Amino acid sequence: MNKSIKGFSKLSKEGKIEWLVTEHFENPNEAREVIETYWHADKKRQKIHDDFIENTITNFYLPLGVAPNFMINGDVISMPMAIEESSVVAAASKAAQFWLHRGGFKAEVISTKKIGHVHFMYEGNAPKLRKFIEANKKQFLEDTRSITANMRARGGGIVDFALVDKTLELDNYYQIEVGFETCDSMGANFINSCLEQFAKTLKNLVEGSEEFTSEEKDLQIVMCILSNYTPECIVRAEVSCPIDQLDEGTGISPAEFVSKFKRAVQIAEVEPYRATTHNKGIMNGIDAVVIATGNDFRAVEASCHTYASRSGKYSSLTHCEVENDIFKFWIEIPLSLGVVGGITSLHPVVKLSLEMLDHPTAEQLMKAVAVSGLAQNFAALRALVTTGIQKGHMKMHLLNILNQLEATKEEIEIVKNFFQDKVPHHSDVVQKFCELRGIKSPSEIVKKK
Ligand code: HMG
Repeated sequence: MNKSIKGFSKLSKEGKIEWLVTEHFENPNEAREVIETYWHADKKRQKIHDDFIENTITNFYLPLGVAPNFMINGDVISMPMAIEESSVVAAASKAAQFWLHRGGFKAEVISTKKIGHVHFMYEGNAPKLRKFIEANKKQFLEDTRSITANMRARGGGIVDFALVDKTLELDNYYQIEVGFETCDSMGANFINSCLEQFAKTLKNLVEGSEEFTSEEKDLQIVMCILSNYTPECIVRAEVSCPIDQLDEGTGISPAEFVSKFKRAVQIAEVEPYRATTHNKGIMNGIDAVVIATGNDFRAVEASCHTYASRSGKYSSLTHCEVENDIFKFWIEIPLSLGVVGGITSLHPVVKLSLEMLDHPTAEQLMKAVAVSGLAQNFAALRALVTTGIQKGHMKMHLLNILNQLEATKEEIEIVKNFFQDKVPHHSDVVQKFCELRGIKSPSEIVKKK
């Protein structure tokens, strides 16, 4: 099998689709139909999507859901959530409603510094280089003045920088670590442009100085890039209430619920297998809002998981404490988000999500995203330590199973009613559906067709 092609990127969209469907699909017309069905009817809008990435052939839809009733620091907002997994939006909504009547969520941005590095190799005297960089700080800042002008006008820019000696970890390896304030933008392009200028300045200054030997002047820049790990860009979200208010619908006493809930968090704190799933549940809430608001969920994921490992052992991103009969549950995470730049002003649904959130600043968005993660974790743990996760999750997933079986509206209603007080396990749903149709297995439908 050889499906390689040279010059694919140079073909027109139609040319790309033609090559793709004829080379990869048994039924090219069917494949073309799927591709074309998901184009936007409005050509101008489709063009916006085409231009986001390269070699676009069609659009990949994700549902946008809304979880209302999130009270954050006294304001009540509706959370836009883009996600494919059933029960996440329902869980977030249920948690939001639960805390709405118990004081809501408190959220606070603790720090907003982003970090980037010039990574380089230097075979020479480290203290001399450190002193030299310190003495030339003004020049580094001067050389980036034109790049930082707009950001400085908004109150941001380069916050600090210093030489970092990494030679204990890798021979001759050094960094200039630069701190940035990027205001309402995530700031990746700004940071990388500044870093590339820093590298040029470093090279020029060292090469032009009499202080360095020829070997030292042969300093090698390896790369200049922001770090997606942002441990100094931290947001905290919290809920708390007297234990006796944790009574609603859990089926067990508030004291037993709190004890089990706290145990579940402690297990995630000490056990990486559990922490991974626990944090995955948190990311259900975080990613959904990050995607809906046009932010980079890969960066957010990477940063959160590194943060979860900062002690040297992967651990829970949330924590729980009970003191003087007060239950407190919180999350502290690094979140580097933007509300300007990227696709925030291009993607029509991202614009809609940001308007739904009342045009937040980056700090307000950090708070909303952290709250969404905390709410999701609360809902999942609440279900896990009481009814079990399958009851609610499968209740929401039921529709997916029935859609897969191509059930009619009437059949869906009958099956939904039947499972109202039961856990709708996949095989039981299929069996009920078959009973309704008077068939032994869904494969009979295919045969009949
Ligand atoms: P329920 O008590 O059966 O729901 O909970 P309800 O029908 O009584 O409705 C109560 C409220 O829940 C509603 O209030 C909504 O807020 C919400 P209302 O709007 O009626 O005033 N709700 C819904 N919202 C939208 N659409 C719906 C809907 N149904 C209820 N169809 C629920 C059902 C699923 C909410 C509950 O069982 C729950 O929270 N379960 C947890 C589900 C969960 O965590 N899912 C995430 C995916 S599983 C996973 O990947 C993560 C995990 O592995 C993480 C971990 O291990 O930690 C679990």
